[in-house]
Parts: sequence; C-alpha cells; structure tokens
Amino acid sequence: MLYSEKVMDHFQNPRNVGKIEDADGVGEVGNAKCGDIMKMYLKIDDDGVITDCKFNTFGCGSAIATSSMATELIKGKKVEDALELSNRAVVEALDGLPTHKIHCSVLAEEAVKAAVKDYYDKNGIAYDEDLFKNMEDCENCQM
Ligand code: FES
Repeated sequence: MLYSEKVMDHFQNPRNVGKIEDADGVGEVGNAKCGDIMKMYLKIDDDGVITDCKFNTFGCGSAIATSSMATELIKGKKVEDALELSNRAVVEALDGLPTHKIHCSVLAEEAVKAAVKDYYDKNGIAYDEDLFKNMEDCENCQM
C-alpha cells in the first residue's frame, strides 16, 4: 500500500481544519511547482504556549495529512519547540510517505515556521534571523 493507515486517516479526517479569527500568528506558504497552498493559524498565550492551532490546505492528500499531523504535534507546545518541528518528524509521526510526496511535508514545516515568524513580528519579539533563513532561500516559500 502506497500510503500508511495514519496518512489515510489524517487525509480523510483531518484534525484542526479551519481558521482562527483572532490568531496571534498566521503563516501562508505555497509550493510553486504543484501550486498547493497551506495556511496555518496559531493562538499563543502569554507564556508563549500554542493553545490552539488550525489550518487550511488547498492541496494534495499528503499536504492535508501532514498539516493535520503538524497541528497535533505543536498544540500545547512552546513556540520555540514548534520551530524545531521538522518535516521529517511529521513524516515519521505519519509512519512514512512515498519519496515523491516528501516535499508536501516540507510545506507543513514551513507553514508552522511562517506562522511563528508572523507572531514574533507582530509582537515585536526579537529573534535570530537565521532561524528563518532557509525559508527565505526556499523556492517553495511565499513569505
Ligand atoms: Fe503539492 Fe503535495 S503535491 S504539496
């Protein structure tokens, strides 16, 4: 079977789909090649903990499954820890993805990072630019 049960489950029953109207951080990224777009909303409390997280993905099944899993992995975490989330960790949590679908998981990692960056920018929180350096170099990102 091409896709794991977890991928199919998160594709068919994605968690945390939607929009947070008063989000503290919003990130939107897209993949220029396939045209898929992912938007991530974060609600962050005064202690820097992600209390809620929702996403909208206009894209393939793997992009939907990875964004769903990414929201589950970062909910309840500190923003700094959410920044550590790698696409590899998301893929592992889904019990793998076919090689040609790995790029879809990169979109999930980037959407989380873009949302955290937006939160930092909106709140005047200083950060190390290097944290987001790869993103700006990345052809997949529309920041
Ligand atoms: Fe575009 Fe999966 S094919 S994100």
